[in-house]
Amino acid sequence: MKPEEVLESIERVAPGQRWPIIGPERGEILDELVLKHKPSTILEVGTLVGYSAIRMGRHLKKGQKITCVELSENIAGTARSNFEKAGLSDRIEVVVGDAKGVLPTLKGSFDMVFLDAEKVEYLTYLKSVERLLHKGSVVVADNVRSHASEVADYLEYVRNSGNYKSAYRDFPVGYNVATANQGDAVEVSVKL
Ligand SMILES: C[S@@+](CC[C@H](N)C(=O)[O-])C[C@H]1O[C@@H](n2cnc3c(N)ncnc32)[C@H](O)[C@@H]1O
Repeated sequence: MKPEEVLESIERVAPGQRWPIIGPERGEILDELVLKHKPSTILEVGTLVGYSAIRMGRHLKKGQKITCVELSENIAGTARSNFEKAGLSDRIEVVVGDAKGVLPTLKGSFDMVFLDAEKVEYLTYLKSVERLLHKGSVVVADNVRSHASEVADYLEYVRNSGNYKSAYRDFPVGYNVATANQGDAVEVSVKL
């Protein structure tokens, strides 16, 4: 299947399964950032069935890679099967475990990071991988409007630490009525 067909099939099933995928509206920002910054290495924290990873992974070239961290072994299995269907399993790998334990063990460097697991832990996640970021690395945090109080410490840090240039991208309710978008925002922070 083409990656787009796998994305569409997940979009169809997600509401009934109550899967909190980033979806097609906010998902476009992932496309935009991957096309703009051309990351060779991406870290995703919170993968669910692989929707956001497929969105990003379809723009990668052979040899470029996404490392996904997912808590649930069962869900990670579904994600791996979706990567296989989308023809992307050579560029997306899933590490199963609690991100708080996994992230401090990662090596290498990341050009882009997508945070989408426990909202209250975003700042812990970022600090655990900051040593693997470089000038120009892009960090994207989802659900920063719907979970504003949980991510307040994270937003304070990326906006005021002097380590990032950070921007809030809002996607209001009704942004795309056809897909019943509930509205939310993402924070995009570029490492200085
Ligand atoms: C919002 S969903 C991810 C959606 C996905 N990024 C997408 O847009 O298609 C959050 C995922 O994070 C996982 N998760 C929750 N806590 C976690 C943790 N401590 N470590 C790793 N993954 C976690 C959940 O199992 C769930 O699959």
